[in-house]
Amino acid sequence: MKTAITKMFDIKYPIIQGGMHYVGFAELAAAVSNAGGLGIITGLTQKTAAELGNEIARCKDMTDKPIGVNLTFLPTLSPPDYPAYVKEIIKGGIKVVETAGRNPSQVMPHLKDAGIKVIHKCTSVRHALKAQEIGCDAVSVDGFECGGHPGEDDIPNMILLPRAADELEIPFVSSGGQVDGRSLVASLAMGAEGMNMGTRFIATQEAPVHINVKNAIVAASELDTRLVMRPLRNTERVLANASSDRLLDKEKTLGADLKFEDIVEEVAGVYPKIMIDGEMDAGVWSCGMAAGLINDIPTCKELIDRIMREAEDIIKQRFDSMAG
Ligand SMILES: Cc1cc2nc3c(=O)[nH]c(=O)nc-3n(C[C@H](O)[C@H](O)[C@H](O)COP(=O)(O)O)c2cc1C
Repeated sequence: MKTAITKMFDIKYPIIQGGMHYVGFAELAAAVSNAGGLGIITGLTQKTAAELGNEIARCKDMTDKPIGVNLTFLPTLSPPDYPAYVKEIIKGGIKVVETAGRNPSQVMPHLKDAGIKVIHKCTSVRHALKAQEIGCDAVSVDGFECGGHPGEDDIPNMILLPRAADELEIPFVSSGGQVDGRSLVASLAMGAEGMNMGTRFIATQEAPVHINVKNAIVAASELDTRLVMRPLRNTERVLANASSDRLLDKEKTLGADLKFEDIVEEVAGVYPKIMIDGEMDAGVWSCGMAAGLINDIPTCKELIDRIMREAEDIIKQRFDSMAG
């Protein structure tokens, strides 16, 4: 399948694995890229820029296909050394960067000078237009269904994607709630040039996370995610667990007085405990409503081949049989 995104990123299939904290290590990115998609290493999971350089090198030992790096711009008082991370990205020969969170304009000139394609992930049409304006090559349009930070507008992809198609000139991919061939065909129908998946790629053989995490996704239904941190305007969609219960209780009790310090134990530094040690109630962790559509733990190749097969069947058989 050829789309503006497969051509732009030089990949076989229009399927991207979004950056994921403590999930997007070299093993997963290489497996996705080897299967014909675009695998992405999560930049800030590496504690220093030098460690990101090593992770890129490790990934390149596992694949000769294009890989990307995610750079997330967090609302924080002590920001990471982004210029140093960008240097390692350029030194590592990375050709695609997925930016997310705040406006990435501070790194755009360096990335563009190095010939790197930038796909900015955002949750509203106005942010997508801003990304286009500052020179991003593509956007990932992340609907309300998504795992992680859906923003504060709460617009699901059934509305957000066609709205993006109506407004944008640069290509975009769908993100949030995407899992299978049906998702891909629907995304293409709504004007996207491919799709980005997070939660679906965690429940794969190669995702280097504890089996408890994969099993929790398989066991979850579409009713099992919660929105936390809304009162702080930093909404995150997470899997419901004892930690999200504690956090939501605090939100209810403290109301408008809630501060980040009140919930810090549930959110700060919890990812290694969950993703590596499999302590499923150690804190909150991002998970999309897509969990309700995930019932197995295939290899990345099995997953991507299945998606492409399903998409082809829908287009060639289901649609054809409806014609006339
Ligand atoms: C466990 C987890 C961690 C994530 N961490 C990040 C991150 O560090 N940076 C980022 O830009 N997006 C992050 N995301 C969002 C994904 O890249 C992607 O946009 C999202 O998962 C898409 O929604 P889906 O889960 O329904 O596929 C994370 C998602 C999950 C599930």
